[in-house]
Formats: sequence, structure tokens, C-alpha cells
Amino acid sequence: MDHFLYREGILHAEDVPIPEIAAAVGTPVYVYSTATLIRHYRLFEEALRPLPHLVCFAMKANSNLAVVRTLGQLGAGVDVVSAGEYLKARAAGIPGERIVFSGVGKTREEMRLALAGGIRQFNVESEPELAALSQVASAMGRRASIALRVNPDVDAGTHEKIATGRKEDKFGIPIGRACAVYAEAARLPGIEVVGIDVHIGSQLTRLEPFEAAYRKVAELTRLLRADGHDIRRLDLGGGLGIPYTRSNEAPPLPTDYGAMVRRTVGDLGCEIEIEPGRLIAGNAGLLVARVIYVKQGEGRDFLILDAAMNDLVRPAMYGAHHDIVPVVEPPPGAAHHPYDVVGPVCESGDTFARGRPLPPLAEGDLVAFRSAGAYGAVMASEYNSRPLVPEVLVHGDQFAVIRARPTFDDLIRRDTIPGWL
Ligand code: LLP
Repeated sequence: MDHFLYREGILHAEDVPIPEIAAAVGTPVYVYSTATLIRHYRLFEEALRPLPHLVCFAMKANSNLAVVRTLGQLGAGVDVVSAGEYLKARAAGIPGERIVFSGVGKTREEMRLALAGGIRQFNVESEPELAALSQVASAMGRRASIALRVNPDVDAGTHEKIATGRKEDKFGIPIGRACAVYAEAARLPGIEVVGIDVHIGSQLTRLEPFEAAYRKVAELTRLLRADGHDIRRLDLGGGLGIPYTRSNEAPPLPTDYGAMVRRTVGDLGCEIEIEPGRLIAGNAGLLVARVIYVKQGEGRDFLILDAAMNDLVRPAMYGAHHDIVPVVEPPPGAAHHPYDVVGPVCESGDTFARGRPLPPLAEGDLVAFRSAGAYGAVMASEYNSRPLVPEVLVHGDQFAVIRARPTFDDLIRRDTIPGWL
């Protein structure tokens, strides 16, 4: 459920008509709903409630300071994967004790930064990283709290590019080696073992792969405790999928996920951490675009929008589907016409949808891509020197620009011409 509904025939974000935002900020523009963000965060909170837990929003899905602060004010932690995300989390007001640091290639500088600024836990993904972290922490007179990310060799059954829990993926430590690596961790002076971490992929539409992975984590917890490790936290990663179309089978709900978590690891007395990104932010955002031209091709009509693959790369990169809706509601029973929906970028990959049935649209009309709040703006670029797409946050009947569109001067000033030219 989200808060983007038609009212009197006009698509609204909460109480704000989308055309009002488009007129004030221009298009393309991302529009987020505060109420939807809050609702989705609370679903996880409630799903895990009987267990001690921390919901750590995966900032890679949407790292806008205003979005992160909205969640932080509800008590959310965050999962960060770079110095940039760490600093943005702090700037958004997230205290260090609610930040977990994930990622396969943390640099020593990033480790130092997080240790100095305050960090709840590092999710360590390899033995060399463990050794480096121990050195960095020791040199600062500190011990870093860590969970080892284990790779359970479970196929998440998701898109090839976002599956992370199979043995051929670059992530984590093979679960069969975990006991040996934990033993080594316990010997290192700069390391304090606090838990186990696992994340098997993104946009999972079934619970079974999670369940298989979490059962392996439960078994490992018992083994490690028998070896004398104080395993008190389990970070179960993110990955719960969202419905991208209203027609297809709905993925499990956070309540189902929560029940499964309790079933698999609930009796271990551990504090549970989860790292959802997409489920919190995905359906809390739209990308609003305007039709530049309707072009008749050979046997197909192209809807040429002012948004392009640089603004929303998921269709080009993963073949992902996003529902596209007109901002002015078509009359009931309006005839639909198949359009190839494309952007202005100079490559054929800049195609959002082929043969998509849509009501008749004309130059100047507004459309909205649904489910664009996660992995949308964060993956945008300025390819073709198109200024970075702006973002707007709606809260009831108010809206604010939370990242402004750069001007063409900004774009030009960002480059430097060396003295010899
Ligand atoms: N934790 C870790 C360690 C992750 O690598 C990820 C996502 C998450 C949590 C959050 O997963 P979520 O709940 O959002 O599924 N750009 C791709 C998605 C990449 C996901 C990468 N890792 C897309 O647009 O589909």
C-alpha cells in the first residue's frame, strides 16, 4: 500500500497534486511520500516486535538525508556501505550506535572514519578485511565490534545481478569455513566478535531461501557458542521483495517474514538486526516525467519522455518492470494503446518499456513511474550531460525539494580545464 492515489482524476502524493510539484520543480523529478516510508518501516518494527531488534534501513536504496532522517526519527538504524553513506547517515542524525557497516571492500580509511565517529558493528566479509580492521582498531586503541558475513550457499531465486548468497558470488565467508575464521577473529587484538551476518540477495519473492539461510545461521550460532564465542546479535540482511506490478503474485508480507524469523532464530536469545532497503523506500517513491513527443514508428508508437536511463537505470540494467501511469486519470474503460516508452538518451538501451498498454497520451502530458523510491535516484547519473534528477519529499499537504536539480552552470563548473589548454 502507498499514498499515491487519484483524487478527482489527478494523481496525488498524499495531499499534494503531482502537477503542482511538476510545475514548481520541473520534470523529471522523484517524489517520495513520508507516510508510505513510515508505514513500511513500522511494518518491520511490528513484525519483529516480540524480539529485541533493530531495523537498519539499507541506505544504498535511498540515501537522501531527508529520507534517512524521517526513518531515523522513528528509531531506525542504517546499514551503510561506504564512507559517503556513513557521513550522510551522521549528517541525517543517525547515532553511531545505530549504524552497521557492510560491504566487501571497506578501506582502512573507511574503518578509521567509522571507528572514530562511532559505529555499532562492522559486517566483515573476508579474512584480509578482518586482519586490516584489527590493525586499524588496535592502532586507535580500540576493539571493533564485528559480525562475520557468512555465505550460506543458498540460491535466492532472484535476478542474477542481485543474488549474493551462492558460493560463486563475491560475498561473505563460506559457511563451512566460518568456525575457523571466528577462531581467528577471537585471537585478534582489535576485534570483538558480537554476532553473525547474512544477506542472500535482493527482491526475493519467496520466504524459503531466507528460511534455508536462517536455519543455517541458527545452527552456526549453536556451534560458535559451543566454541565459546559470545554470539549475541544476528544480522539477517535485507532482500524482501516488493510488488512491481499490481497484477503479479504478491511477495510475502513483512508479518510473514517476521513469523519466519521467529520460527528460525527466535529461540536463540539474540538481538535481531535486519537491513531492508527496497521494501521501505521502493513503493514510497515515484519518478514523474513529461511526454516530449509521441512519435509514430514502423508498426509501433514511441512515447518519448524527458526522463531517461540516467534518471532511472533499472529497466536498462536489469530489464526491470516499473508500472507507468498517467498523472491525469483516464476515464473508466478508456482504450489503451501499446507504446514503446523511451527517453532522450542516445542509445537503444534507453527504453523503459516495450509495447506497454497506456491510455492515449499527448505532448506535455505527465506520467509517473511507480515503485521508484528505491534504487532510483541513488543510481542516477548525468550521462549525456543531463543534470542530476531532483528529489521532493511530501508530508501531508506540504512538499519540499530535498535535492535540487543542478543548474547547467553547476554542471559546467564541475569540470576543470588544465592550464596547458
Ligand atoms: N544489506 C546488504 C548487505 C545488501 O547488499 C543489500 C542490497 C541490502 C541489505 C538491501 O536489500 P533490499 O532490502 O533493498 O533488497 N540495484 C539493485 C538492487 C541491489 C541490492 C544490493 N544490495 C536493484 O535496483 O534492483
